[in-house]
Amino acid sequence: QTIYRSDYTPPSYLVDTVELGFDLDPARTVVASRLTMRRNPDSAQREIELHGEDIDLVALRLNGRLLEPRDYAVNGNLLTIPNAPEEATLEIETVCVPEQNTTLSGLYTSNGNFFTQCEAEGFRRITYFPDRPDVMAKYTVMLRADKARYPVLLSNGNLLEEGDIGDGRHYAKWEDPFKKPSYLFALVAAQLVCQEETFRLADGRDALLQVWVEEGNLDKTDYAMQSLKHSIRWDEERYGLELDLDRFMIVATSDFNMGAMENKGLNIFNTKFVLANPRVATDIDFQGIEAVVAHEYFHNWTGNRVTCRDWFQLSLKEGLTVFRDQEFTADMIGTDTGRAVTRIDQVRTLRQAQFPEDAGPMAHPVRPDSFVEINNFYTVTVYEKGAEVVRMYQTLLGRDGFRKGMDLYFERHDEQAVTCDDFRQAMADAGGRDFSQFERWYSQAGTPTLRFETRYDKAAQTYALTLFQGCAPTPGQDSKLPFHIPVAVGLLDREGRDMPLTVDGKDMGTTAVLELLEAEQTFVFSGVTETPVPSVLRDFSAPVILQGGYTDADLLHLFNHDSDPVNRWEAGQRLAMGRLLKLTGEVAADGKLNLDDTFIEAMRKMLVDESLDPAFREQALMLPSETMIAEQLGEVDPMAVHLARQFMRANIGASLRSELLAQYDANQTPGPYSPDAASAGKRGLKNLALAYLNAAPDADTIALAARQCADAGNMTDRAAALGALIHARAPQAESELARFYDEFQGEALVVDKWFAMQASAPTTDIARVRELMRHPAFNLRNPNRARSLVANYCMNNAVQFHAPNGSGYLFWAEHVILLDGLNPQVAARLARAMDRWRRYTPALQVHMKTALQQVAGQQRLSNDVREVVTKALAN
Ligand code: ARG
Ligand code: ZN
Repeated sequence: QTIYRSDYTPPSYLVDTVELGFDLDPARTVVASRLTMRRNPDSAQREIELHGEDIDLVALRLNGRLLEPRDYAVNGNLLTIPNAPEEATLEIETVCVPEQNTTLSGLYTSNGNFFTQCEAEGFRRITYFPDRPDVMAKYTVMLRADKARYPVLLSNGNLLEEGDIGDGRHYAKWEDPFKKPSYLFALVAAQLVCQEETFRLADGRDALLQVWVEEGNLDKTDYAMQSLKHSIRWDEERYGLELDLDRFMIVATSDFNMGAMENKGLNIFNTKFVLANPRVATDIDFQGIEAVVAHEYFHNWTGNRVTCRDWFQLSLKEGLTVFRDQEFTADMIGTDTGRAVTRIDQVRTLRQAQFPEDAGPMAHPVRPDSFVEINNFYTVTVYEKGAEVVRMYQTLLGRDGFRKGMDLYFERHDEQAVTCDDFRQAMADAGGRDFSQFERWYSQAGTPTLRFETRYDKAAQTYALTLFQGCAPTPGQDSKLPFHIPVAVGLLDREGRDMPLTVDGKDMGTTAVLELLEAEQTFVFSGVTETPVPSVLRDFSAPVILQGGYTDADLLHLFNHDSDPVNRWEAGQRLAMGRLLKLTGEVAADGKLNLDDTFIEAMRKMLVDESLDPAFREQALMLPSETMIAEQLGEVDPMAVHLARQFMRANIGASLRSELLAQYDANQTPGPYSPDAASAGKRGLKNLALAYLNAAPDADTIALAARQCADAGNMTDRAAALGALIHARAPQAESELARFYDEFQGEALVVDKWFAMQASAPTTDIARVRELMRHPAFNLRNPNRARSLVANYCMNNAVQFHAPNGSGYLFWAEHVILLDGLNPQVAARLARAMDRWRRYTPALQVHMKTALQQVAGQQRLSNDVREVVTKALAN
């Protein structure tokens, strides 16, 4: 059942054209398909191979002849036609039942409307087809449906014609002028309305842009439209890539497994990443919309025009497109600190989610070698670590060099299905560089560790920096070879200023990008006039764990002065982490906790430094999460971690009370709400201050939160204030939660927030969660809703989930099993809550193992969930 990358063979037949006819009916949709195919000269195989899943085959014709069951073989999901001629026209008729499709893969209904999701292997749930990304064809699509119920009929590309066909039905015919793999096919048949406008492209053409939503949501489409226009402009300017269609559509659906999907010309989105206005969406929501709209748009070139040969190459499009959307977000803010703040966010995501994945049972290389279920590999490793890998090319080649590499990549591979090696080769050739060792970033799993030692020679005025790298074993990979690691380094003098850097007689400015190729390598800076404090891994130049090497004094120096904002932030995180680990130990030992003044003073200084952007100060004052602390421990007691971190938060809240109150006042954003970075940064710092104040709550801090809750003119401030009340265990928390629900019960995305807030509150125990499960608004079938309550409780509420009696784990097992019967993809994501089970205290491990075994012991289990629990139990 395991599929291996090394088993790749080219498709036996190529498909030139696909004509699809849909008679859409929720209970019985008939799909007719005509494929023109020809034997692939690059394949030795003779049979036609088609995939099909959960569909009924009505008729199959080959070059006009109706095939009898003996003319072909069906083996599981594979239909094979032997002895097929060189050129073949296949006509296939199948039936599917969209209203019963709870997997949300293939053709399904949501609020009565039709949508599709074909990546990775959903097209085979619509019709029989060689459903693999290296089969690229031109599509023409005819949609027929009831006109009153489904007035809007959309598919990829351009609308050729539309009209009535009697019986209250109508049709629309669409044609996509570009070859594409089947995973990019999409259709929508729905009752929707759109915001639209024409947009002038760089070459003077006009494109029609549309954002389609349910009636009643037209007041929430502005930001998505604006983000789309910014994205189009940015790709033209930064990469010279233009929209290649006359029309570009975004459609929102409330039932969606992931964030969004880049179907050619017809992006389908989770409503969460489209709908926003100040009343219902937070600053984070606005940011998410901008990033995801950009991401899907950028896929039009990195993913669609140039696609993946096979699914092991997923990071070819995802890592690259995440990198592109990250750069877009940074450019949109436009300031150096703004850019650094986005970078800090990325580092935080890596540490919070990717490093644990890389150290756990599901660890896999950016380009995996094998999988059971490809849907399990839409991971932070493939996406976010993949983006880091792409970023390293840019760090090594420079921005212009990277752009040359991109140009060469498109010149070579436009309209092809290619591999990560092809991308690496384009970068190497364009830059005249040898990137053979760099390949290990694609093939080796695990997070490399980096360590450094220094030696200052006063007489010689040299400063030697020795870098050491290593990487722990991961499942299936016992030993690793050295990576090619760009290590950006600066040296601070005692005033905190950057020293000019010279290595091997070469002037390297104030930040040198050292290339570490060996397990151990020494770099010697010359002309160093005093003992410096090194700032290593500036801008987080590689996705590695930088270990030790710093004294507290060094860290304070960097925290106060580093010109690189990312390392400045990093120094603060290290100061905090050291203390959080000590406090966690103290909780376990005798419960007597102590926090030094030095740390509080450093935080105070940062908090009140008005020369720094509020957004940066917010980042610098935010503590490492409980998950990050747990990753540093050999054995995790989640309660001890929680208490230690809460102690530090309360201590900051109490010690810096007057400064926090002052910042709370100073960072108000009166006037109409705007989601821009400067305003959002102020709100972020203000609301962090409110949270700290309420980590050591008293009547005044609670009154402050209550007032903000009552007066808030936007969802950012409203949700933050309500959160502060809940976490302070304020008496009015319950009534404010009730008021919140009353006010927003008509807004599904806000109701998700309402569930999520409660699910992740340390005050919410298992009884309360089970009660919320019975709330009339709860619905396990809707992924956003299931995630808001079930996944948040299991993955975002450590103290409750890890209750010593194992009740959280039983709840987990129960819902993984329930969800698996409905939607394996959502179930498998939830299953990953147990990834790190071997790291917990022995008492917890016993309960966790029992729960894992309970799931693994189910007779009927999807490949998705089975892969996750089997790997967890094995590793
Ligand atoms: N390609 C999409 C994106 O990156 C993700 C869709 C994946 N969906 C899935 N069911 N595996 O935005
Ligand atoms: Zn993507």
